[in-house]
Amino acid sequence: MADKKVIVTTPTERVIHWFLAISCLLLVITGLALAFRSFEPVALIFGGYNTMITIHIVLGLIFTIALFYAISIWRKDAGSINEEDILWMKGAGGYLWDAKLPDPYKFNAGQKVFFITVALYGLVMVVTGLILWLGMDSLGTGLLRWMMVLHAFGVMVLGGFAMVHIYLGTIGTSGSIDAVLDGKVTEAWAKTHMTGWYKEVGSKKKA
Ligand code: HEM
Repeated sequence: MADKKVIVTTPTERVIHWFLAISCLLLVITGLALAFRSFEPVALIFGGYNTMITIHIVLGLIFTIALFYAISIWRKDAGSINEEDILWMKGAGGYLWDAKLPDPYKFNAGQKVFFITVALYGLVMVVTGLILWLGMDSLGTGLLRWMMVLHAFGVMVLGGFAMVHIYLGTIGTSGSIDAVLDGKVTEAWAKTHMTGWYKEVGSKKKA
């Protein structure tokens, strides 16, 4: 008999997740192609250097809207670190050695750190990106250079975190990807990864 399923995300959450994810990944790719000549073939795929700048700006605006939605959706469950999260971190989430971990509510401490990084550094990318776009002709080179440094640093932060997130969301944690595809995960997955939420809410959300 097939495993019973539980609905863990709403359609809005899934749509926002993919707008945020796809715009973020395309921003990293087009951004690298804008910065490094060796990525020129990528610029050609996006219609040449000038078209790619326009695409990068449009993607930035989509990312901005998705980011604000994402912050409003996940701030409550993923936006703050509590004492149990500190215990989870002290045990390195059980990834490096055997550790007794507290049961998560809806997100574990690693997911919370990822969300907080995306929220904070996403905002830094939006602000620095807007200043670089709108202030290129009017602001002094000193300020613009600092914006470029912060903007480039953000690619490393968000790109690095995104790679770990994609690994853990796919092959790293079996069954997780369903949460952002059709929103239906197995009961066993929900009990393990969203223990507190499953007891309070999820057990009434059978698919
Ligand atoms: C192919 C790429 C991606 C895959 C397969 C993926 C997968 C997932 C999965 C499975 C979840 C739900 C985790 C759970 O509830 O246990 C999730 C949540 C989330 N994802 Fe992604 N993701 C991808 C790319 C991204 C990118 C690029 C970003 C941000 C820039 C992002 C931001 C988020 C956020 C904010 C959440 C909710 C909070 C959290 O889990 O920390 N995702 N993703």
